[in-house]
Amino acid sequence: MAENTTEERNGHLRTEVKLAAGEKVALCRCFGSGDFPFCDGTHKTLKSSVGPVIVSAPKEEKKED
Ligand code: FES
Repeated sequence: MAENTTEERNGHLRTEVKLAAGEKVALCRCFGSGDFPFCDGTHKTLKSSVGPVIVSAPKEEKKED
């Protein structure tokens, strides 16, 4: 499951999201989500046309000997 941390750097909040191999998440770009940084669908209630960005981590590749 994706994990996230937020910290302040140079006066700005910076959020880092870590994904497991093969994991896919929708990240909020409207800043309206109650589950930020993840999209919870709140953007659908806003007058903006902004929606989430979908991010996926590559699946682990099996190494062949
Ligand atoms: S809730 Fe913000 S993009 Fe979906």
